[in-house]
Amino acid sequence: MMPTVNPNSSEHSQSLVLFGALGDLSLRKLLPALFQLDKANLLTDDTRILGLARKPYSDTEFTQAVAQTLSKFVAHDELDSATKQRFLQRLNYLQLDMKAPQAYEDLKLKLADWGSHITYYLATPPSIFGDICSNLNATGLNDPTSRIVLEKPIGHDLASSQVINDTVGSFFTEEQIYRIDHYLGKETVQNLLALRFANPIFADLWSHDHISYVEITVAEEVGIEGRWGYFDHAGQMRDMVQNHLLQLLCLVAMEPPSRLDADSIRNEKVRVLKALQPMHPNTINQYLVRGQYGDGHYQNQTAPGYLNEPDANTTSQTETYMALRADIANWRWAGTPFYLRTGKRMRSKATEIIIHFRPSRHFIFASDQESLAQNKLVIRLQPYEGIALQTLTKEQGIDKGMRLRRDPLNLDFAQTQGHIRIPDAYERLLLEALKGDQSLFVRRDEVEAAWQWCDQIRATWQQSASPLHTYPAGTQGPHAAYDMINAFGHHWYEHC
Ligand code: BG6
Repeated sequence: MMPTVNPNSSEHSQSLVLFGALGDLSLRKLLPALFQLDKANLLTDDTRILGLARKPYSDTEFTQAVAQTLSKFVAHDELDSATKQRFLQRLNYLQLDMKAPQAYEDLKLKLADWGSHITYYLATPPSIFGDICSNLNATGLNDPTSRIVLEKPIGHDLASSQVINDTVGSFFTEEQIYRIDHYLGKETVQNLLALRFANPIFADLWSHDHISYVEITVAEEVGIEGRWGYFDHAGQMRDMVQNHLLQLLCLVAMEPPSRLDADSIRNEKVRVLKALQPMHPNTINQYLVRGQYGDGHYQNQTAPGYLNEPDANTTSQTETYMALRADIANWRWAGTPFYLRTGKRMRSKATEIIIHFRPSRHFIFASDQESLAQNKLVIRLQPYEGIALQTLTKEQGIDKGMRLRRDPLNLDFAQTQGHIRIPDAYERLLLEALKGDQSLFVRRDEVEAAWQWCDQIRATWQQSASPLHTYPAGTQGPHAAYDMINAFGHHWYEHC
């Protein structure tokens, strides 16, 4: 049945059915995030949460498991007992074999008096998305107001993502589908829109005329964290670049949307993805560096290399690090490269976007200082969320003549906004899904355009036998990544 009613309306109760409620994501992220929404009075009084998993838990056992997870993943001073009690009362549990159609009759009974606008959150492997959607539909649990939230990965390449999208799409309309990229829920990622489109001074500078290059770095301190099997099939390109880094690139590069609604924003993001240049086999090794961490250090202790992690296949050629140059073939960005880099087990965690502005055309200060004379806009997404504009000033002092120095105009959100708590990305995403706003979710054509670009690059590096460079755990990645960017006359901004 194809619904015709727009499900995106916030005038209704906000109830959630959580598939995979005892999985890591639910316990570590989703349930604590729902608790925080409750604490901020953002859930309606009648919001109910039904956890579904295979374990034969009673409502009480589930509630106890959630109480434990809250103690672990919500800061002690945020876990007040009144909210905790209210939140736990919202919970119910049902043991469910998600693949078995007849089991959904129990689910139907459980939801009999829940009314409309139910959000189904699939915190499960994508391999069972199809079964779940088909069973919900066959049992009459998909009405025009239902929504379905899908966790990544949506496939491991274009073809497999199309299969998932076709399957889910044969039961739910695109307006009902909410594909998660948790980076879109991060507060500072949202701030990119404000920075770009609420500040006219930047709007006029935002193009190849004034910007020399853009750098997007997502350095992670963590390694594989017990997910070796999953990660080895993905690698950093599929795990991070295809989704999080490309979403950041889109927000930096897209044209101003005519309005701030979901489709206006997503239309502009898709245009950017479609304008990304493919890579050429003859030059790919000048544009891309793959790395894998070897033995090294993490938090002052020795740390095993990727091939020495538990469960490792010691001959794996999977990359845990990627650095690449992306070019966007459109009027705004032709000639301004976007450098993306991301790695696991790096020296420290840092997610940053750096806009390198072009130098002045005519430099009148001491010639040995000319290399200083470039403004940089540093957008820190995590940690220490903030924005800094590197500017040049005169060194203070009568003896300093007109020597220049570089100083930041610094916006540290913790200071300017009075140390307010920065919500976790999942809090915002859950809230938006419950309210029925798709702006922060990824549309089908975005996912597919991103896969198309990544697939082409992966195929080209396989064909060209791109080398895999080693870097010691706890460092800044392979030297080759520095050589790659320096060869274009550009430099990584060093923080990670
Ligand atoms: C996930 C990846 O999507 O994002 C993980 O699968 C990665 O491998 C994580 O560690 C990074 O997220 P964050 O929010 O910690 O930057």
